Amino acid sequence: MSEVLIERKGGLLSLRFNRPEKKNAITLDMYSALTDALENLDPGVRVVKFSGEGGCFTAGNDMKAFLAAPPLDHSHPTLRFIKLLPKVPVPMVAQVEGPAVGIGTTLLLHCDLVVAATNASFAVPFVKLGLVPEAASSVLLPNLMGYQRAAAMLLLGDTVDAQMAERFGMVTHLVEPAALSETADRLVQKLLSLPPTALRETKKLMKGDVSAQMDAEIKMFVSLLKSEELKEAATAFLEKRAPDFSRF
Ligand code: COA
Repeated sequence: MSEVLIERKGGLLSLRFNRPEKKNAITLDMYSALTDALENLDPGVRVVKFSGEGGCFTAGNDMKAFLAAPPLDHSHPTLRFIKLLPKVPVPMVAQVEGPAVGIGTTLLLHCDLVVAATNASFAVPFVKLGLVPEAASSVLLPNLMGYQRAAAMLLLGDTVDAQMAERFGMVTHLVEPAALSETADRLVQKLLSLPPTALRETKKLMKGDVSAQMDAEIKMFVSLLKSEELKEAATAFLEKRAPDFSRF
C-alpha cells in the first residue's frame, strides 16, 4: 500500500498520509509523491485536501532521513515540496486529528482552511532538533498569531493543543473527532460549488510572497543538517532517551 494515498474525485485532489505505524512521518519517497501530485495540477482540480491515516496527521520529517543527511539542493524532494506549497493555486483544506509536528504544522500555514479535531496537537520543535524553522513559518507564524505566541512555539518547541491553536488563529474549524471528516467534506463541497476563477484569484491576492524568507531559512537549515546538535537530537529520539546538549 502506498504511503501517500492520492485520490481524485471530481474537482477534489485528496492527499492522505498513510504510514500510521510511524505516525505518518514523511520519507523522501512520500515528499516526492506529494510533490508529483501537486505539481502541474490539471485544470479540473479545484480543491486539494490533506489528511492522515490512523488518527494522526503527521509527525513531520522522518528522523532517519535527518540522520542520513543527504546533500540538500533545490531538487531534493523535501525542498521541492516546501517550495511548491505557496504556489498551489487552488484552495487547500487540511483535516487534522492527533499530532501535527514540524512540516505537519508548517504545511497548515499554507492551507486556506484548517479543520481540526479536539484531539489535534501542533508543534514546531525545530530548535529542539538543532534546526531552524522551514516553509516560511519563521514569518508566517508570527504574522498569524503575533510574535510572542510564535516565539513560544518556535523557540521552546512546546506542543499546542487544538483549543489553543484555534485561539491563536491556526485552526479555522474546531470539531469533535466524530465530526471531523464530515465537516471537512462539507467545506470541500462548498469550495467546489464556488466560482473557481474568483476563488483562485482571491487566494492569490491574499497570499504574500514568502520566497525570500523561505530561501533564507533553507540556507540555514541546510547548514545545520550537518550539525552535531541535530545528530544528538535525532539519535536520542530514535533511541528513546532524552537528548543531552550540555557539551555544545
Ligand atoms: N520520524 C521517524 N519515526 C517516527 C517519527 C518521525 N518523525 N515520529 C514517530 N516515529 C515513530 C516512532 O519512532 C515509533 O516507532 P517504533 O514504534 O518503531 O518505536 C512510532 O513512530 C510511534 O511513535 P511514538 O513516539 O511511540 O508515538 P507517540 O504517540 O508516543 O508520540 C509523537 C507521537 C508524534 C508526539 C512523537 O512520535 C514525536 O514526537 N515524534 C517526533 C516528531 C518530530 O520531532 N518530528 C520532526 C519535526 S521537524
